Amino acid sequence: MGKAMIVGVGMTRFGRHPDTHFTRLAAEAIEEALADAGMDFRDVQQAFCSRVYLPSSTGARVMEVMGRTGISCPDVEGACGAAVAGLRQAVMMVEAGQVDIALAFGVEKIGKGFMPPHILYEDWQCQMGMTQNPQYWALNAARHMHDYGTTAEQIAKVAVKAKRNGVKNPKAFFQREMTVQEVLASPLVTDPLRLYMLCSPVDGAAAVIVVSDKIAHRYGSRPVEVAACVHTVSRYPLLNASSFCSTPSGHPSVYASTSASAYEAASIGPEDFDLAEVQDNDAFSELEYYEELGFCAKGDGGRLIDDGATDIGGRLPVNTSGGLQAKGEPLGASHFGQIYEIVHQIRGQADQRQVDGARVGMAQVFGAWGHCGVSVLKQGW
Ligand code: COA
Repeated sequence: MGKAMIVGVGMTRFGRHPDTHFTRLAAEAIEEALADAGMDFRDVQQAFCSRVYLPSSTGARVMEVMGRTGISCPDVEGACGAAVAGLRQAVMMVEAGQVDIALAFGVEKIGKGFMPPHILYEDWQCQMGMTQNPQYWALNAARHMHDYGTTAEQIAKVAVKAKRNGVKNPKAFFQREMTVQEVLASPLVTDPLRLYMLCSPVDGAAAVIVVSDKIAHRYGSRPVEVAACVHTVSRYPLLNASSFCSTPSGHPSVYASTSASAYEAASIGPEDFDLAEVQDNDAFSELEYYEELGFCAKGDGGRLIDDGATDIGGRLPVNTSGGLQAKGEPLGASHFGQIYEIVHQIRGQADQRQVDGARVGMAQVFGAWGHCGVSVLKQGW
């Protein structure tokens, strides 16, 4: 099996783009990725389009704008995990030698406010009044606070770190720093989660060009190796969000099992990462991922944020891009946005956000109905 290398990445600013058609948003990201790789669109042999709320055949509609070259471009859907599922398809085709050049991109246009509940939940859940993602995340947070003494201040610190990093990222939606007091004073959405602890649903697109290691030297300046790209669907249902966490009876969570598969594929452990991007839909979940992904022991997530270990300059910087807390979340493009950040960090191109000596990074996403994905990227050569 050959190796898959990333030679080009592109991304629109995540945010509100009411006057831009989704095909144009996608094209902007793809064109940046092609320019980054020094590649012509006619060289691309296979494409995958990740999206969630956009219409059928979004990928084929994007081909209309890029110029129909006749290549395959199916849509890939997997809630917030849509992008990792698409990236995995591209990586597998390249590793298997089916193609030498694959494009994986994601795009979303999504309105302000809560997501339409009937797309995400069963009728009975809606009838119970459990119609929104943040309600389930709040249950998880409350349980962790009860079991481990995690505090609202620690959750607020995650949001503050994200906003601080986001100000250094011109592609992030929110461009203003906040204090812990300001986050704790923002409107209560669902106890204990407040408005400034939640990610805004936004519009945006991001793209990644994956090539075989045989030809990587022809494109881009510094190829980045995809050491692992794993996507799974959890063994346990999403009827209770806490069923995704590792349990005292020893069942690993979907986050723990998916990351373990990725670490094994990459022959790496969590202690080897120079940085990580994780799915901080709500500020609490970042603390939970520190634990579930092996960055610290169970229950110690709050301590990591208190110690500044996950700040830029800390032991393991997390969400240097600002994460979803600062960028907002365009579902289909979400994981590609994380890959964009890690590739720039590994190449030493992250400007004010740069992590000194970054060589190895990981990105993790989680989506409704149990989609989970982890990618591990390493400096190519
Ligand atoms: N940080 C800073 N400002 C924020 C913010 C944040 N985390 N969240 C909202 N704001 C701002 C908005 O920009 C807006 O400002 P404006 O009036 O100047 O435009 C203001 O607060 C009011 O917020 P609103 O327009 O209602 O924000 P929203 O569209 O982000 O909706 C929620 C708020 C709670 C409904 C939304 O954040 C939410 O549902 N998030 C979860 C999304 C989700 O489920 N994603 C996962 C998909 S599987």
